Amino acid sequence: MKNKIEKIYADASADIAKAAATSDLEEIKNKYLSRGGEFNAIKKGLKDLSDEDKRTVGALANEITQKLEAALAAKHDEFYAKELDEKLITEKLDITMPGKFSAEGRIHPITNTINEITAIFESLGFSVVANELSPEVDTEYYNFDALNIPFEHPARDVQDTFYTAAEGGRQVLRSHTSGSQVRAMEAQKPPIKVISPGRVYRNETVNSRKNNFFHQIEGLLVDKDITFGDLKGVLNEFVYAYFGMPKAGAAGVGLREQGEQGSIVSVRPTRFRNSFFPFTEPSAEVDVQCIMCAGAGCRTCSGTGWLEILGAGMVHPNVLKGVDIDPDVYSGFAFGMGVERLAMLKYAIDDIRLFFQNDVRFLKQF
Ligand code: PHE
Repeated sequence: MKNKIEKIYADASADIAKAAATSDLEEIKNKYLSRGGEFNAIKKGLKDLSDEDKRTVGALANEITQKLEAALAAKHDEFYAKELDEKLITEKLDITMPGKFSAEGRIHPITNTINEITAIFESLGFSVVANELSPEVDTEYYNFDALNIPFEHPARDVQDTFYTAAEGGRQVLRSHTSGSQVRAMEAQKPPIKVISPGRVYRNETVNSRKNNFFHQIEGLLVDKDITFGDLKGVLNEFVYAYFGMPKAGAAGVGLREQGEQGSIVSVRPTRFRNSFFPFTEPSAEVDVQCIMCAGAGCRTCSGTGWLEILGAGMVHPNVLKGVDIDPDVYSGFAFGMGVERLAMLKYAIDDIRLFFQNDVRFLKQF
């Protein structure tokens, strides 16, 4: 037994002398000193010895174990220091280098603008019409006929409108969101107070100001005793909420306080110009004082001091009749605004195509 122990000691010592790395030391430790190692096997045999032998052999075994552990530890310290030095030289780590970042997703500026405008009208009591009341591929009936746009109207010209073959005959890629007015009035009896955002298509030559698809937000309010004054009030509130206060000292500041008889007048001056749409009478186009030059005249407003932002008017009696709403009892107003245009004005963007190229350098600014 003693001999066996001496033999293990000799073998282990030789192995330790040959070791070249901390990993070799691990192996040696495993081979001789672990639970399943050679030394333990011998220690297990101790129980079969006489008491006398147990003591001496046991003492020897313990002594040898301690010696081996000490030898291993000494070598370990030596190798470890050496290996650490090597690592420090070969595995240089520059902790001042920036980490890896993954790009953060963002909401597209057009979606953002739609959300913002929608929130303003919701705060004025409007609700957004359901998706199915606002299809992008629609019949000529909803895009034109029901809106009092006669067959010979130039807007129906194939040069403006994209036509598409569909089940049950030809359909259009809607050229405006006004068809959703008709669907809303079919789905609901007055009072009706809705807005309908969505994408529209026009066969335009694409340039910095025009794209062949863009987005509109349609608004419709139908009830008893609705007047053009209500339309003006709602749209002025919208302009005020969307464009905010003009720069201090600019023309128009303080107009809100000057409203006659306590009426609310937008601080951002607006102008209602006489216009024509087949589905509204009277009709108007609404201008807002140029946000760039505050009315002085600049490139953005072509020197006029005003920017056109939407079309609007009182719902035409023919449109109401078409959906069985009595124009002698009810009246209403409608408006339609271009989302890209409103976003371009607010963020001083000079090319509509930027919204659709999806260049991250542009998108990440929003
Ligand atoms: N649909 C019109 C357009 O696209 C805008 C509009 C909507 C005008 C509602 C009046 C009422 O130009």
